[in-house]
Amino acid sequence: MTNEMRGVAVVSGGGSGIGREIARALARRGHPLALLGRRQGPLEETLAGGEGLVLPCDVRDAEAVATAARQVERRWGAASLVVPAAGLAAISPLEETSPERFRELLDTNLTGVFLLLRALLPAMRRQGSGWIFPILSTAAQRGFPGWSAYCASKWGLAGLVAALREELRGSGVRLTALYPGATASPLWDDLPGEWNRALMVPPREVARAVVHALDADPTTLVEEIHLGPAGGAL
Ligand SMILES: NC(=O)c1ccc[n+]([C@@H]2O[C@H](COP(=O)([O-])OP(=O)(O)OC[C@H]3O[C@@H](n4cnc5c(N)ncnc54)[C@H](OP(=O)(O)O)[C@@H]3O)[C@@H](O)[C@H]2O)c1
Repeated sequence: MTNEMRGVAVVSGGGSGIGREIARALARRGHPLALLGRRQGPLEETLAGGEGLVLPCDVRDAEAVATAARQVERRWGAASLVVPAAGLAAISPLEETSPERFRELLDTNLTGVFLLLRALLPAMRRQGSGWIFPILSTAAQRGFPGWSAYCASKWGLAGLVAALREELRGSGVRLTALYPGATASPLWDDLPGEWNRALMVPPREVARAVVHALDADPTTLVEEIHLGPAGGAL
């Protein structure tokens, strides 16, 4: 990794679960952090007095995301690493899913990623470097009963990522897409059903996958990482 890649890591959803573990791993590697999420407290807990900024905002709010991006640019210039990890899940049969809930998942998991990347990419392109780690899911490639809104948001994100990958060719900005299976994070807390956390991927393993991609020889781009429970999908 070049020195310029030790710049700021912008992590949405940095206050818990996968985003928090990735943020911590990047801080240990010397990256200052810019952490986005709606609640300030958990973001501060992740930062734990380290170098960086907490930028409480809702990723569905284009203006709030643009403001956060401007704060990042004022302090550090272009983002070096971007991890759009803010997201949420819901489980219900399609016909019992309210239009509001459907929209909420699409707005957060898909449009929220679009808004963050749209705000940060111009400076990254100008700098000619940077690395984006979108957090997709096994549910970006498979259907699971009760997960229609979530699957729609993640399959949509997979389409966005596929197009963006092509747009970035030659720009110097890299993209490694992560496809975790069931991961033991607070995302499962309010979901109906019995979920055995002990069978799930620990969030730190998703962070380890990011580190693996960063550590590859610069000649080589790890384009996608798929990881899931060793015993199969839950
Ligand atoms: N856990 C899994 O099994 C799994 C598997 C594959 C992929 N993923 C994906 O991994 C990502 C991280 O999820 P996680 O498992 O780590 O869940 P998590 O612990 O619930 O973290 C999600 C984070 O997103 C933030 N967030 C939610 N809505 C937001 C909004 N509108 N604006 C800003 N921040 C928002 C939450 O903070 P606030 O509530 O404070 O805003 C929270 O910190 C998600 O995209 C999820 O779909 C998870």
